[in-house]
Amino acid sequence: MRIKLLNLALFLLALQASAQSEGLLGDTDGEWNFLGFTGYAGEVVINPLTGSSYFYWLFQAIQGNILTDKYPLVIWLAGGPGCASGPAVIFDYITPFIIDDNGEPILNPNNWVNQVHFMAIDHPIGTGFSFSNSPNDYKNNTSGDTNQLYTLLVRLAQKYPTWFNRDLYIFGVSYGGKWAPAIAYKILSENQGASPPYRFNLKGIGVGDPWTNPAVQTSFYGYVAYSSGLINQEELSIIQAYEEEIQNQISSGDLYEAQNNVGMVMELIYEYTGGINTYDIRKFTDYNSTAIEYWLNLNSTKALLHAPLNMEHLGCNPNVYDMTTDFMESSAMLFPYILDNINVLMWIGQDDLLLNTPCVENLVANINWPGIQGLLNTNKMIWKVNGTVAGYVKNYSTFTFVHLLKSGHIGCHDQPANSRDMFFRFIYNEGWQQ
Ligand SMILES: *[C@@H]1O[C@H](CO)[C@@H](O)[C@H](O)[C@H]1NC(C)=O
Ligand SMILES: *[C@@H]1O[C@H](CO)[C@@H](O)[C@H](O)[C@H]1NC(C)=O
Ligand SMILES: *[C@@H]1O[C@H](CO)[C@@H](O)[C@H](O)[C@H]1NC(C)=O
Ligand SMILES: *[C@@H]1O[C@H](CO)[C@@H](O)[C@H](O)[C@H]1NC(C)=O
Ligand SMILES: *[C@@H]1O[C@H](CO)[C@@H](O)[C@H](O)[C@H]1NC(C)=O
Ligand SMILES: *[C@@H]1O[C@H](CO)[C@@H](O)[C@H](O)[C@H]1NC(C)=O
Repeated sequence: MRIKLLNLALFLLALQASAQSEGLLGDTDGEWNFLGFTGYAGEVVINPLTGSSYFYWLFQAIQGNILTDKYPLVIWLAGGPGCASGPAVIFDYITPFIIDDNGEPILNPNNWVNQVHFMAIDHPIGTGFSFSNSPNDYKNNTSGDTNQLYTLLVRLAQKYPTWFNRDLYIFGVSYGGKWAPAIAYKILSENQGASPPYRFNLKGIGVGDPWTNPAVQTSFYGYVAYSSGLINQEELSIIQAYEEEIQNQISSGDLYEAQNNVGMVMELIYEYTGGINTYDIRKFTDYNSTAIEYWLNLNSTKALLHAPLNMEHLGCNPNVYDMTTDFMESSAMLFPYILDNINVLMWIGQDDLLLNTPCVENLVANINWPGIQGLLNTNKMIWKVNGTVAGYVKNYSTFTFVHLLKSGHIGCHDQPANSRDMFFRFIYNEGWQQ
């Protein structure tokens, strides 16, 4: 049995095809202009021998001009592993237009591109419109995929130097909790002594409901489910026996078995509760991105975004990272170096069971950075948006940690206005107490 639990069930609905070989296309990317919004999108080759390509979708700041202004650039990586970022940022109410239940584009009053340029990248290769022409270009692990992503960023910086002549932020959610620190670490290391296109002004990263260090994040499912009134004591003891086994398997290096047991725990909780959404314990229904996938697969959309017409958009690719141990490996050891150099925002949705509050608190407590004690000892701030409590914040030195209230795993979807407020307080350093 393989864990399906970090793959959002919704995106899995759309998955029959696999990202297809398209032949040696070369770069296809260029400008787009739609409903009054503008940007760039398309394929960029990262392996010239095979033609394997990444797809990116850049939204230009509404009153900006990426050739001349200084608005920050924000890059977004969705989770999975293997769920494309394009559909995710529409689902998350980030983009200036979103897709309604009938597959029609509508304006999004919450959009982020009033204040930043925003780029969604379908990561890794094999998801969304990013495709491989060779089995060897599927890396199926964080280190291999991070090197490919870095290649893409360098190629973009070569083609469009002004895009990177500004502050850069990288956000990752869920499995992006491994990818965002990995690409940040890579950039910061490569920056040493380098100049553009090999030098990026990386100013910060953000990770939401992060799956970063499984060894310290997989012991709280029973506790959270029980204290939320979802399982009884007998069920709790069964879950806790699994949690103990997961710990033992991680210690003895049986990472694949440990991963399967995490999947088993999620299935048991689903069964015990009569079908709770383990990403959001307020719900008994799955997320649904059918309409978004429909829109992305229209030929008119592909033409607009310079994606190949004969290619099926693949919302999530369940084969990416199948049979690898990357799931249970940690990116936590990358954080000290990152925190020494740039700002980090981490947030957790109150109602997420898979990446629950105690497990993310424990992730933080186990980061081996001298400032962690300072963060833990700092008083929390009550963060309000428009006079209503939106969450709680701790901020120490370069590390900001946010509890987002009334939110499951996908905070930007569940609390769009508050999430947007959180991001801009972080990026523009506006403080949390007003
Ligand atoms: C998902 O959304 C589509 C289109 O909006 C709708 O037709 C379908 O019934 C929905 N599926 C579920 C399970 O709700
Ligand atoms: C990741 O994948 C690459 C290429 O597929 C491989 O060379 C490397 O050993 C893998 N790394 C880990 C940590 O599994
Ligand atoms: C979309 O374009 C492809 C490639 O040109 C073509 O095969 C397909 O029939 C088109 N689909 C529709 C619905 O027109
Ligand atoms: C890697 O991912 C590709 C594409 O999703 C898949 O076809 C392949 O089987 C995977 N390889 C391994 C070793 O997991
Ligand atoms: C976090 O707090 C520090 C002081 O400890 C301050 O310098 C910094 O600007 C704050 N950052 C944010 C994003 O609020
Ligand atoms: C705050 O309230 C104002 C006025 O009602 C409204 O325009 C604005 O969108 C609200 N902001 C958020 C983040 O909810």
